[in-house]
Amino acid sequence: MKGIPTAAGGSDGPVILGIESTCDETAAAVVRGTTLVSNIVASSMEEHARYGGVIPEIASRAHAEAFVPVVSRALADANMDLSDIDAIAVSAGPGLAGCLAVGVSGAKSLAWAANKPIYGINHVIGHVSVTQLQFGALPENTMALIVSGGHTSLLHIDDIARSIEVVGTTLDDAAGECFDKVARLLGFPYPGGPHIDRHARLGDPTALKVPMGLTQGRAGAEHPYDFSFSGVKTAVARWVEGRRADGKDIPVDDVCASLAESVASVLSRKAIDACRSRGSDTLIVGGGFSANSQLREHLAEAGREAGVDVRIPEIKLCTDNGAMVAMLGSNLVTAGVAPSSPDFPIDSAMPLDSISMP
Ligand code: KG4
Ligand code: ZN
Repeated sequence: MKGIPTAAGGSDGPVILGIESTCDETAAAVVRGTTLVSNIVASSMEEHARYGGVIPEIASRAHAEAFVPVVSRALADANMDLSDIDAIAVSAGPGLAGCLAVGVSGAKSLAWAANKPIYGINHVIGHVSVTQLQFGALPENTMALIVSGGHTSLLHIDDIARSIEVVGTTLDDAAGECFDKVARLLGFPYPGGPHIDRHARLGDPTALKVPMGLTQGRAGAEHPYDFSFSGVKTAVARWVEGRRADGKDIPVDDVCASLAESVASVLSRKAIDACRSRGSDTLIVGGGFSANSQLREHLAEAGREAGVDVRIPEIKLCTDNGAMVAMLGSNLVTAGVAPSSPDFPIDSAMPLDSISMP
């Protein structure tokens, strides 16, 4: 096993190649310290659209095809070759097992061939780390809301390289998954989240009564920072199916606006409550769903009222990318965390308080 990279002491910070292949994006990026040097993303999203969701086998094959071109481009754009890199970071989980296996075995081969240390990192913590590329260092006592197709979690971060506390998480569907399922019911192609967002802007958010999962009564009191979106999805589905059975038109804009209002207000309310409970005055938001305009509006307003600095990165840094992996690798190297063992496994259900593989 290689030791902790010594170039971490360089004035601009360590140079990290980050590789990501958890779902339908094959991505690679180079980060130096907290500066993004190059960032390449290839997506297989269009290949999945006609199936209404990501097909793991198709995604894995796409990763195998894209791995070498994407990594080569990221290095070429950075004007570097592997010898210029201090360490390689790769998403080891959570994600689709076959997809992770392609990225991790490719990254291990590069590390072995170039004799570089490798870090198998937690993809979800990468979504937190990436904000440093846009907003600078993470303040102590930061709260993070990570919202994607697979995750909806509130994390408290004391030290991004060493200590993450899971404050809350979804008990069933993720926010993006809930949007995607309703979108499918309304006939939108995968991924449906952006279609719901667009139609929601045109509709009346009070048109349907949509439940606010885990906000009221005993369940709300027992799970102040957890989420539940499956009841939201079911309520909307029942309403739509009922209207269809009665032969009535579906007011698509109103359905989208009511759904978006419920999900965005629960997410922002619980995130700000979590900040208050821990005395955090910074809230980081990441994951593909943070592109959602209703969530952005709710968080901006709730943050202003509560005096919380809400940091949502630009959309290309919110969706899956290699920059987030490289940035977390840079945090680990800078903090002196030991690299992963060369035979570290993938973990498709990697726990959120595990930052990197030992
Ligand atoms: O983080 P991400 O790119 O991939 C996962 O790791 O899941 O997130 C993708 C999710 C999908 O569910 C997609 O529908 C949702 O993010 N999404 C949106 C928007 N843009 C992407 N949901 C609502 N509004 C959007 N504008
Ligand atoms: Zn993600």
